[in-house]
Amino acid sequence: FSQRDAKFLFTATKPEQYKRLSNPEFTFAGRSNVGKSSLISAVLRSQSLVKTSKKPGHTSTLNFFGLTSSTYPESAITVVDMPGYGFRSRDDWGQFIMEYLSTRKELKRVFLLVEAKVGELKTTDLSFLELVEHHNVPTQLLLTKTDKLKRTDLNIVSGKVLRAAMDVAPTAVVPEVICCSYKTKVGVDAIQEAILRASGV
Ligand code: GTP
Ligand code: MG
Repeated sequence: FSQRDAKFLFTATKPEQYKRLSNPEFTFAGRSNVGKSSLISAVLRSQSLVKTSKKPGHTSTLNFFGLTSSTYPESAITVVDMPGYGFRSRDDWGQFIMEYLSTRKELKRVFLLVEAKVGELKTTDLSFLELVEHHNVPTQLLLTKTDKLKRTDLNIVSGKVLRAAMDVAPTAVVPEVICCSYKTKVGVDAIQEAILRASGV
């Protein structure tokens, strides 16, 4: 992934707005403020492209980014930044995202972000996992902001959240957690590799 290959495409709340995109797609989901937008900017290697904020609830639409590469011009990848859940009411968050998750065939994998310091899955995470299990969307856990936690605690937390997630979504959950930090850039390479592998590029 290199900076010049990434671009912001559009924001969307309706299928008509994104259905013409047919490249392998990867979506970053999770509670408000877990660090979705920050991590996407690291993965795309472009700070200016993705808006992040200290205030929860910053991202409020589906934001689509495109990755093309001179080596693989024909096999571009789409990355989607989701609004966080847990800040707005469930109904508010619900409709267009529900529609997106249940109908989006291009979706190769959802990255579900959990903040390392929080250390557990919340009710909203569990509901989200029920949703991806129901719709058969492969989902990989990312433990975020790991710069705030000690290595030993990190191992305990990642084992714990993985077990909890697999209890709820045994088919959907990919049995490997990636520990990452926007601050130290730990895990960014691993996410890029996971994207490339799952997109079949
Ligand atoms: P919503 O769009 O509201 O759902 O939030 P988001 O999940 O996109 O979070 P965002 O990337 O906007 O980051 C929220 C806050 O967490 C910002 O103040 C970031 O600077 C901070 N943050 C993000 N990643 C990290 C990280 O790896 N380490 C630390 N220490 N802070 C981080
Ligand atoms: Mg955001």
